[in-house]
Amino acid sequence: MGTTDNRVDLEDGIIDSDTIKRNALIVILSGIETLPDYIGSVIYYMLQSPEHFARLRKEIHTVFTVSEDILAEAVQNLKFLKACMNKSLRMALPFIGTLPRRVPACGVYICGQFVKGGTTVGIHNWSIMYSGRFWKSPEVFCPDRWMDDPKYEDDTREAFYPFGVGPRICVARNLVIIKASLILARILFDFDMELELSSSHDWPKRNGHLVPNKRPLFIRVKADTGEGI
Ligand code: HEM
Repeated sequence: MGTTDNRVDLEDGIIDSDTIKRNALIVILSGIETLPDYIGSVIYYMLQSPEHFARLRKEIHTVFTVSEDILAEAVQNLKFLKACMNKSLRMALPFIGTLPRRVPACGVYICGQFVKGGTTVGIHNWSIMYSGRFWKSPEVFCPDRWMDDPKYEDDTREAFYPFGVGPRICVARNLVIIKASLILARILFDFDMELELSSSHDWPKRNGHLVPNKRPLFIRVKADTGEGI
């Protein structure tokens, strides 16, 4: 890669500095908006069900005895945490917009219909995540959906692509999952929590175009070593 004036030459193309700045903005905004929202949604849905919350804390305290052991590789063993994270991601997507794609000049058939070259097409992610065509009782938060519960065996898991698909898939997806798992495991290892229902009961009902408008999530937090869990 070499530079000429304000342009960057790549092997197979050229990117000018304005494009680089715009892309830098996308990376920064993508990071700021999404991860905290994702972590908030897991906590929200967990606290909606004391039974799920207790089960999650029990899993974390069974796998770890000291918080220093909560490291990137080890958090992958937290199966229930993973199920809760997947479920929250489906219910409260941090990126709810349509993912646009431009049809190549020759045109293509999409679902049996010819679409002209140059047309912008896209799939609205939120609609897929809440479609009864793909998910049994899509409005219900049930992490066991991701733990091989036979009740949900007909769910179309292939429809779950919160990070997009194809060559423009979210570049940070693996990092996001590891970071969120680490943060959640650390917080839930040390603290018991309760949802402040009067102000946060309808927290997921948020409008927005590409990303949901942010609303504060109020919770009561109590230091708790997990003894007796
Ligand atoms: C739960 C958190 C996140 C979700 C659900 C998410 C989701 C997405 C989605 C759906 C796309 C569009 C993919 C497509 O067009 O097919 C995307 C793209 C992108 N995301 Fe994320 N994202 C998350 C977190 C992050 C973070 C933390 C960063 C950066 C640190 C990031 C950086 C990007 C970038 C740079 C792109 C554009 C990739 C490209 O066009 O090649 N994302 N993300």
